[in-house]
Amino acid sequence: MPVVRGKNIEQLYSAETIAARNIDLAKKISKGPTNDLLVIAVLKGSFIFAADLIRAMHAVGLAPEVEFITLSSYGTGTVSQGVRILKDIDSDVHGRDILLIDDILESGRTLRFAKELMYERGARSVSIAVLLDKKVKRQTDLEADYVGFECPDYFVVGYGMDVAYAFRELPFVGIVTGDAE
Ligand code: IMP
Ligand code: MG
Repeated sequence: MPVVRGKNIEQLYSAETIAARNIDLAKKISKGPTNDLLVIAVLKGSFIFAADLIRAMHAVGLAPEVEFITLSSYGTGTVSQGVRILKDIDSDVHGRDILLIDDILESGRTLRFAKELMYERGARSVSIAVLLDKKVKRQTDLEADYVGFECPDYFVVGYGMDVAYAFRELPFVGIVTGDAE
């Protein structure tokens, strides 16, 4: 089991498994709406997945514009939880097909907010690609159009995802299982 910074990390999805899945996703994306396609990566957790997925999209002939949005959840109670924009995109989405890319779909609040925002701004279509889907955590009716893997209900790190700002650099997705001996 890999040891990173004194922690045991159990690998859940290897770099090779993820790379192969990204090619499948890109092929599926190429069969969906891609008119004047704008990819929007939801920062920070999606940055590695988005970087790999857009290159897989290039390999199947897609040439999207790429943008970034930083969103943050606030509030702790179920009712008061909301999402706000920390950094917005620069491009006009009007009349365009949008692909939102995020690392994990959990409650669905973040991506529901982003999807509604893009429709309010006049997007022609809004699709969602996520690396991981934690279905058991869903608290909205939002579903992703393209899912890398259905993920068990563990807190995962790596491939862009962090715990307390650590482990984003890992090339695989894993679970922190404890302190190394
Ligand atoms: P939600 O769908 O609005 O609940 O938000 C999901 C977001 O929470 C993801 O985009 C991640 O940034 C973060 N997140 C959820 N689960 C994990 C995890 O297991 N590891 C790291 N980040 C997570
Ligand atoms: Mg996120």
